[in-house]
Amino acid sequence: MAVVRVLFVCLGNICRSPSAQGLMEKVLEEEGLADRVEVDSAGTHAFHVGEPPDPRAQEAAARRGVDLSGQRARRVTAVDFARYDYILAMDRENLAALEAACPPEHVGKLRLLMEFAPDLGFDEVPDPYYGGPAGFDRVLDLLEAAVRGLVEHLRRLHAAA
Ligand code: 4NP
Repeated sequence: MAVVRVLFVCLGNICRSPSAQGLMEKVLEEEGLADRVEVDSAGTHAFHVGEPPDPRAQEAAARRGVDLSGQRARRVTAVDFARYDYILAMDRENLAALEAACPPEHVGKLRLLMEFAPDLGFDEVPDPYYGGPAGFDRVLDLLEAAVRGLVEHLRRLHAAA
């Protein structure tokens, strides 16, 4: 498999997309694909740039053996649209913000992450920022299913390359 680049995108880059990144890195490690897929995350807004993930996200992820503490929030940049092969939004608002900023030749890279877990009946990952801790566990359940679906997709599509 040639190196494939995946960028997870949410609003603030402190809850959903860093969690997706951490889960993805763990699954890739488990599957022996860590050197085949490059993963990062970013936000459509700059509210929290430079901050580590939300403590609630870090705690929920740590309970699943995923360490988010080294991540720092950043905003999506113009270079990301060229660099990444898959640019995966957590919700429709994030997707619309990406579509508005993306050069036309790269719009085919933009998708909703939950497309990779079609059986769950969720097309968006709900924003847990203003809710309680249970929301963070629910988010991780959705992200884990989608990330596993994404890894299977990458394995099938890119195995021969
Ligand atoms: P995220 O969650 O997009 O999953 O990182 C949020 C983080 C911050 C804010 C909203 C959502 N905020 O309004 O600051």
